[in-house]
Amino acid sequence: MEVIVLKNAERVAAMGAELVGELLHARPAAVLGLATGSTQLALYRHLVERHQNGNVSFRQTTSFNLDEYLGVVAENPQSYRSYMDREFFEHIDINKRNTFLPFCEDGQNPRLVGIEYERKIRKAGGIDLQLMGLGANGHIGFNEPSSSLSSRTRVKTLTRQTLKDNSRLFSADEFQPKLAITMGIATIMDARSILLLATGESKADPVSKMIEGPVTAMCPASILQMHERATILLDEAAAAELKNRDYYDWAHRQNESLKNRFGVFHD
Ligand code: GLP
Repeated sequence: MEVIVLKNAERVAAMGAELVGELLHARPAAVLGLATGSTQLALYRHLVERHQNGNVSFRQTTSFNLDEYLGVVAENPQSYRSYMDREFFEHIDINKRNTFLPFCEDGQNPRLVGIEYERKIRKAGGIDLQLMGLGANGHIGFNEPSSSLSSRTRVKTLTRQTLKDNSRLFSADEFQPKLAITMGIATIMDARSILLLATGESKADPVSKMIEGPVTAMCPASILQMHERATILLDEAAAAELKNRDYYDWAHRQNESLKNRFGVFHD
């Protein structure tokens, strides 16, 4: 794991966008794994800006989102499809036909949707870079605590904590889905590289468990300790409970000088 602590959320988003930009320069037809949530919004804003300045193109890119609500039509402004269109896809040159979410039509068997999603990811050649946020309870995608560490795309029931955390995004009379289809933890671990962003003090506890706690299904993000290329971008508030902070800062400086000397390597 490479842990990088930056001054604030804005820097986190800017660096996230820079890393995505580097990948797309090296590999314009990269397969991106995308995420929703409020943390990603600033990252998408930076990527849109880079695109508008002519610094990055998504024309050849394919994308797979981590998750989608179950029982919400795509046109519903709360669907993750609407979020992605609104916040990102409509402002860049990606071919919308190459953007995928694990969406389940009314009456469709969600189990088959999960199997088909896995097949599509494999057919695209696998995910080069998976972006993600972190739930306050340590979830990644919608893999809630106790999710199998070997899981694949399937339906998950959201925990009360997640429903409460996300209720701020729904008005009082609006239907808040309690089920979602999410990439599994094994699906996420198959990505060739991972970029997780976490900002704000509400993430300090799950961040310390993810990085310095035991690998456990009770903190699904802790599985990233087993990933060969996982980069964690944090702001000061989210890094507040880390014990090895000095080491991460020092190691990051070493990695930067290696990068300046030898460039970025994308296998
Ligand atoms: C949601 C999403 C996750 C996201 C997490 C954190 O439940 N399914 O993919 O990472 O919440 O969201 P936020 O960035 O809004 O804190």
